[in-house]
Amino acid sequence: MCSFVNFNINGSHYKLPVIYGTFYEKAINISKLRESTGLITFDPGLKNTGITKSSISFIDGEKGELLYRGYPIEQIINQCSFIETSYLILNGELPNTAQLKSFSEKVKKFSFIHHKDINKILDNIPVFYHPMGILSSLTYILDAFMNSIQEEDLYLHLLAKLPILAALTYRKRMGLPPVCADPYLDYTSNLLKMFFSVPNKSYEPNPIISDTLNKILILHADHEQNCSTTTVRLLGSVHVGLFSSISAGMSALWGKLHGGANQAVIEMLEDILKSGGNIKKWIEKAKNKKDPFRLMGFGHRIYKNFDPRAKIAKKVAENVIQKLGISDPILKLAKNVEKKALQDSYFLEKKLYPNIDFYSGIIYQAIGIPKDMFTVMFALGRLPGWMAHWKEMKLNKEPIGRPRQVYTGYKKRNIK
Ligand code: SDX
Repeated sequence: MCSFVNFNINGSHYKLPVIYGTFYEKAINISKLRESTGLITFDPGLKNTGITKSSISFIDGEKGELLYRGYPIEQIINQCSFIETSYLILNGELPNTAQLKSFSEKVKKFSFIHHKDINKILDNIPVFYHPMGILSSLTYILDAFMNSIQEEDLYLHLLAKLPILAALTYRKRMGLPPVCADPYLDYTSNLLKMFFSVPNKSYEPNPIISDTLNKILILHADHEQNCSTTTVRLLGSVHVGLFSSISAGMSALWGKLHGGANQAVIEMLEDILKSGGNIKKWIEKAKNKKDPFRLMGFGHRIYKNFDPRAKIAKKVAENVIQKLGISDPILKLAKNVEKKALQDSYFLEKKLYPNIDFYSGIIYQAIGIPKDMFTVMFALGRLPGWMAHWKEMKLNKEPIGRPRQVYTGYKKRNIK
């Protein structure tokens, strides 16, 4: 379906086509705007700008809905594993039994890295460097070992290898020797074993923790054109390789206003506890325009209703803490902060609701992940989405991403 927008500029009449998405979203196609009118658009933060057409995930920000390839996140989380979800996001359909078996077997087959070379590099990265910096660096280096791999297998190699790099990053700092992948375990149980097994002791993954990790990875698997995904697409548009594009996406995710928020939420909640638990004082601080403090884990560029992932993450957090018999004052505090904030007109009028990061850190903490590795876990979850967008951008043969600007600098002048 196509219609047009008509507009006049300085007495000249113009019309631009309108394109339609699967649901009700409509977009003015401005790809010929400058050519036909001499004008460009101005949209800091790209709040109103669609940079591509995509069929991977869809967010209804007003209703608070998220679909992966058309399936609601609430169904996926209860009926699929993270590996099945990865297959769906990468290939567009849920796998049948044979497809899932072949996909899983390939991931297991590719679950190795060039330990000697990677460890040499890791030995030269300061051990106090943030795990996101380490993971992004090692992912970049991994590219060096992927030359002869055919593209379809590249995705599976990275899906298999990223958990190994993440576990290596954690174990290096803990002074633990690297652990190889266990082909007899499912994806999340293997990930946990590579993280937490200790020498001279057998490791039995806890099914509660394994299932929790499975759910939290699914919740992060894709989310339209968020900052890190758009970064991956931009690099792909100039033909940067998959691993290097994903490495750049990790750097974008690390940002405190993006994936780094999960660590910032826990640090904020700990500060609230340490300062006596006066929630009202912190909410007022978040509302104070003169104070740079924001209520971390609240607000979202697209969701102007509850982030459906936050609702699920809250239940997963309650469930894992109850099943593991942990008494966690942070969860209780988080629920009180959410309650008080959502009774405050500032948050209601600005439509600031808890996002995925508000509860995800509580879950990571409950399953033993250290705070500064929360965003690493976010990256492990977002990996299938990043790869699917990189693949889609290539299949669409999209032009290089190169926006314009409104120049406000000096007029032309001569050096005297
Ligand atoms: C993720 O894009 C994605 O999909 C991201 C993500 C994904 O899965 O990839 O969902 C993951 O990054 C979630 C967001 C995690 N970040 C945080 O929790 C950090 C805290 N939140 C904010 O920084 C903010 O809400 C953003 C960054 C999430 C969204 O920023 P926007 O859309 O640019 O909104 P804005 O900064 O323009 O805020 C609008 C108003 C402002 O007030 P006014 O200037 O209009 O008076 O709301 C206020 C803001 O000051 N505001 C907040 C607030 N968030 C927005 N005030 C207090 N606390 C907050 N958290």
